[in-house]
Amino acid sequence: TDPESQSILDAHEWMTKLYHHMLRNSKEGKNALQYLLDRGFTEETIQKYQLGFSPTSPTFVATFLEKKGFHPQTMVKAGLLNANEKGEYFDRFRGRIMFPLRNHLGKTVAFAGRSLGDQEPKYLNSPETDLFQKGRLLFNFDLARSSIRKSKTMVLFEGYADVLSADQAGIGNGVATMGTSISETQAQLIKRYADRVIVCYDGDDAGTTAAAKAAKLLKQTGCQTNVARLPEGLDPDDYIKKFGGDRFEREVIEASDPYTSFIINFLRRNYNLQLEGDRIAYIEKVLQEIAQLERAIEREHYLKALAEEFQMSIDTLKSEVEHLKAQSN
Ligand code: CTP
Ligand code: MN
Ligand code: MN
Ligand code: MN
Ligand code: MN
Repeated sequence: TDPESQSILDAHEWMTKLYHHMLRNSKEGKNALQYLLDRGFTEETIQKYQLGFSPTSPTFVATFLEKKGFHPQTMVKAGLLNANEKGEYFDRFRGRIMFPLRNHLGKTVAFAGRSLGDQEPKYLNSPETDLFQKGRLLFNFDLARSSIRKSKTMVLFEGYADVLSADQAGIGNGVATMGTSISETQAQLIKRYADRVIVCYDGDDAGTTAAAKAAKLLKQTGCQTNVARLPEGLDPDDYIKKFGGDRFEREVIEASDPYTSFIINFLRRNYNLQLEGDRIAYIEKVLQEIAQLERAIEREHYLKALAEEFQMSIDTLKSEVEHLKAQSN
């Protein structure tokens, strides 16, 4: 590691401890701690994830880092401080719940700061550095690793809170992207460490659309991919808080749909199946998905369902799929 990166790592280690300490022990951190407890996060989870609080004073961190001898310009680069035109330094994160973002070695390389109320942005993130690239990091990968190894499965969430809630409910193999769509690097990372992945995004339009994109990429990367369904308006964290972890495991995780089932359903939203033209276009689209399946038994399964739904002969559909397969080879 070059000296600058080392200094950024050291500063993040100090700040993880200091923010955590402020959450636990400061008068100002009380509200933040109460907010987390009210949301149902336990002391144990707060400890395990080293959640913290950034005080509202504009120079709390600046003063601390200066005393420790850190070069302020490096700290600006690291995203812990901001500078103004006069060359004064101020804290970037103020009055927020701090989520340390750890790399695969368990070192904090960035922070996400959540506002306590409805202030925007809801999450303020560190800028990218040599040590922190959003597209290369999976939140919680370091802690999830042993559970991933045992289950050969990873659960991919949208948000930090989802990962924490799932872990609290005994599902320790959860990771998350940092609010961005999943990159090829992240998909390959998942493929390298798990045989199966369950995409478990929020139960809203944004979540479903993002899940379709993520699942498609993961499938193309060679992962056995399932997609979980959540009730409209709930995310995994909401669901667990509302219905409990056991029900989440049974009715969301275990009941997740294999990629092809999910996509066949997802594609429906683009068509009005009452219309003949749409119906044919939809069937063709579904046949393209089926044609991509490796196993004949899987193809047969989905063809049968399609034939039944649209009252067509399975032989016609099958020959169409063979045709599509020949084309793609
Ligand atoms: N996100 C972000 N910046 C925002 C909003 C979201 O970086 N202004 C990222 C965060 O990584 C967040 C994820 O996108 O965890 C999912 O967003 P959202 O579903 O809106 O947040 P939740 O994770 O549900 O957060 P909370 O439960 O605290 O509201
Ligand atoms: Mn502690
Ligand atoms: Mn969301
Ligand atoms: Mn959410
Ligand atoms: Mn949420």
